[in-house]
Amino acid sequence: MKPIKFSFGRPVSPKHFYDREAEINRILLRLLTIKEGVKNDVVLIGPRRVGKSSILSYLEWKLLKKEILPICIDCEGLDLVAFLKVYGNATIEAQINSLKLMKKFGERLKKGFTEAISVMSEALGRLKAVEVGTSLQEYLRFRIEFDKSTFHKVLTNEEIETLFDRTIELPNKLDKKCVVMIDEFQDTTMYSFSRGDFHANFRNKIKYQKNVAYIYTGSSIGMMDDIFADPKNPLAGGAEIIYVEPFDRKTSIEFLKTRFNDAGRRISDNSAQYIYNKVGGFPLYLNWVGLRVCDFVRENNAVKLNTMKNVYREILSPKSPIYHMLEKQLIKLGYKTQNVMTCLAMGYRNPPAISKESNVKNIYVYLDRLQKYGLAIKKDSQYDLVDPILKEYLIKYK
Ligand SMILES: Nc1ncnc2c1ncn2[C@@H]1O[C@H](COP(=O)(O)OP(=O)(O)OP(=O)(O)O)[C@@H](O)[C@H]1O
Ligand SMILES: [Mg+2]
Repeated sequence: MKPIKFSFGRPVSPKHFYDREAEINRILLRLLTIKEGVKNDVVLIGPRRVGKSSILSYLEWKLLKKEILPICIDCEGLDLVAFLKVYGNATIEAQINSLKLMKKFGERLKKGFTEAISVMSEALGRLKAVEVGTSLQEYLRFRIEFDKSTFHKVLTNEEIETLFDRTIELPNKLDKKCVVMIDEFQDTTMYSFSRGDFHANFRNKIKYQKNVAYIYTGSSIGMMDDIFADPKNPLAGGAEIIYVEPFDRKTSIEFLKTRFNDAGRRISDNSAQYIYNKVGGFPLYLNWVGLRVCDFVRENNAVKLNTMKNVYREILSPKSPIYHMLEKQLIKLGYKTQNVMTCLAMGYRNPPAISKESNVKNIYVYLDRLQKYGLAIKKDSQYDLVDPILKEYLIKYK
C-alpha cells in the first residue's frame, strides 16, 4: 500500500509538510543571525487553519539540525501564571531533550502538578551541572521550591514578579543559542501585571538578550497587528511581520496532485480546480478532502469529479470534523456578531447594508471585532469573510 500523506487535525509533522518555501527561507534568514548574537525577531500572522503552527513545527525541526535550541510555547487559554510556568517548563524540556538525558521527559512534565514537581526533582538529582548547565540547575531548584510553596494558594504580586523575571531570562542564560516560539500570542494581551503593561515588561526583559530570538504567531489578525504594528504598543516595530496566506491556486493544485499521486490515486485538473474553487487553498480543508476521497477511491484508480463533489458536500454535514470545528469557533461569539457574519456570508458588503439586514445598530463595533479576530477583512470600505467554508456554514445553518 502506498503512503497516504494527507494529514488532518494537528500541526503537520515535517514529513508531511508541504511547500511554504518562501516563508521558511525568509524566517530562517532572520532567526539564524542569532548564531552571531544578532536578534531578528519575527511575527507570523494569518487566519485560523492556514498553517501557522505547522510552520513552527517545521522550524523547530530545522533549528535543531542547525544546533539552535527551539523552545515552543502555546499561549492558548493560559493566564499569566500558567503562561510563565509553561514557558519555564518548555525551556527545561527543550534543554533536557536536546541532551537526550531523560526519556519521555516532556510528556511527563505536562502530566500535572505533582508529576511536574517530581519529574523536575528527578532531573535535578540525576543530571550533573556540567550536563545541563548551572543556570538550568538553579532554575529547577527555584521552580521546585516555588511550585511547592505556592501550591493551593493565590500568588502574591511579588511571587509573580519573581516567576516572571526568573523565567523570561532563563533561555538567555543557557549555554546554547535559542529561538523561543510563542504560538497564539494574542492571548497575552489580557494579562494584568503588577509592574504595569505586560508587553512593555516583556520587551524590556528581552531587548538586550544576545542568545535568544523570538517568533510569535497569532490568528486574531487585528489584535496581532495592534500588538506589533501600532506605535502605541511597546512591542511594535520589535519584530518583522510576515503574513501567512492560504496556498495559492497553483500550489493548492500541485499539493493535491502530489499527495494523490503519493497515495497511488490520480486526480484530473478539473477535480483539483473544483476543490480549490470551493475551499480556497486552506491547507486544512485540502487535507481533509484528500483523506476522505481516499476512503472512496482505491489505490490505482482515478478520482472522479463526482466523488469530489460528494466529499465537498460532506464537509459541512454534522458527520465531518470540520463542521464541529466551525461550531466550536462560533460558539465563543455573541449572537449579534454571528448575525453580522451571516450577512457577510450572504454577500452584504458595505456597513449600512449589513447593519440594516442584521438589525445591528453600532455595526462598526462588530465589524472591527471581526477584523480583530481575523474573521473578516476590509478592502475599500467593503467587508468580507476570510474563510470560504465558514461562509458556506453560515449560509447553511444560521
Ligand atoms: N505546510 C503544510 N503542508 C501540509 N498540510 C498543512 C500545512 N500547513 C497546514 N496544513 C494542514 O492544515 C492544518 C492546520 O494547520 P495548523 O494547525 O498549522 O494551522 P494554524 O494556522 O496553526 O491554525 P489555528 O489558527 O487554528 O491554530 C493541519 O492539520 C494540516 O492538515
Ligand atoms: Mg495554530
